[in-house]
Amino acid sequence: MSTKASAPGKIILFGEHAVVYGQPALAVPVTQVHADVEVSDSSRPGIWIEAPDIDLHTELNTLPSDHPLAAVIHNLFFALHVDPFPSLNVRIASSIPVASGLGSGAAVSVALIRALSTYTGHPLSDERVNDLAFEIEKLHHGTPSGIDNTVITYARPVYFVKGRPLETFKAGVPFFLIIGDTGVAAPTKEAVGDVRKLWMKDKVKWEKVFSKIGDIANLARTMIEQARTKELGELMDQNHVLLQELRVSSPELDKLVQVARNAGALGAKLSGGGRGGNMIALVTPETKEAVAKSLTDAGARHVIITKVE
Ligand code: PMV
Repeated sequence: MSTKASAPGKIILFGEHAVVYGQPALAVPVTQVHADVEVSDSSRPGIWIEAPDIDLHTELNTLPSDHPLAAVIHNLFFALHVDPFPSLNVRIASSIPVASGLGSGAAVSVALIRALSTYTGHPLSDERVNDLAFEIEKLHHGTPSGIDNTVITYARPVYFVKGRPLETFKAGVPFFLIIGDTGVAAPTKEAVGDVRKLWMKDKVKWEKVFSKIGDIANLARTMIEQARTKELGELMDQNHVLLQELRVSSPELDKLVQVARNAGALGAKLSGGGRGGNMIALVTPETKEAVAKSLTDAGARHVIITKVE
């Protein structure tokens, strides 16, 4: 017997970092990249994990208990009262670049939770999948807001406020985004930790910045729903400036953001934890190819064109 599950990547449109402090953020799934998990019977005792993308070929018990993959399996089987553990082969493949703001860790967790729970005869609701994936995000990120696991679990555009029930949104007209990867791997945990240090030093000052970012995210939702694409681009530019103030941009991100704007994007900003990873640019059907080419020519490692509906 074997069971398969997949989960998409994701990208944050507005509100990263401020979302950790209770402000709203917008994120959408990115289906061009995904994590795929296949669970099957094993004739050998144990749980054998094959994850060629991260060069991992091992039995569960050889992993430290706080390893995210080990933690997913232990937490899930504990929650489902699966004891003793069955003998399994778990194959994990992901086309989502690691540490780049596309949600690779959360996507692997969600696909793994779905595949294992279905395989063991306990398929879970999205809500439970999301809760379990959030626990694992804490290992990856320290103090995550929960936005990554939420948008990936539900695979829908999400208006996210930490601790609040799921709220989705719909674009008035579909629009195109280009996602450009700086190729610089930047752990979200560090950027989030550095923002926390800033905030600890002067809470009043930085909470004003968070709240400006939150206002932009709220306005952006309205612009998306009302199909006001030009204004949406301007809001991206404004959000990027505030992220620069939070010191989570980088020369590579600033360069790609500028290149995209010069090539005709309506707006551009970094996306996710920052310091590296991805930027996004808002484009039209007419400008999308030119912006994508300019980003590649300027050194972007991967470029994805995605449609938000
Ligand atoms: O780097 P990413 O795309 O996983 O995004 C992290 C988003 C932050 O707001 C910086 C952190 C969080 O947990 O929301």
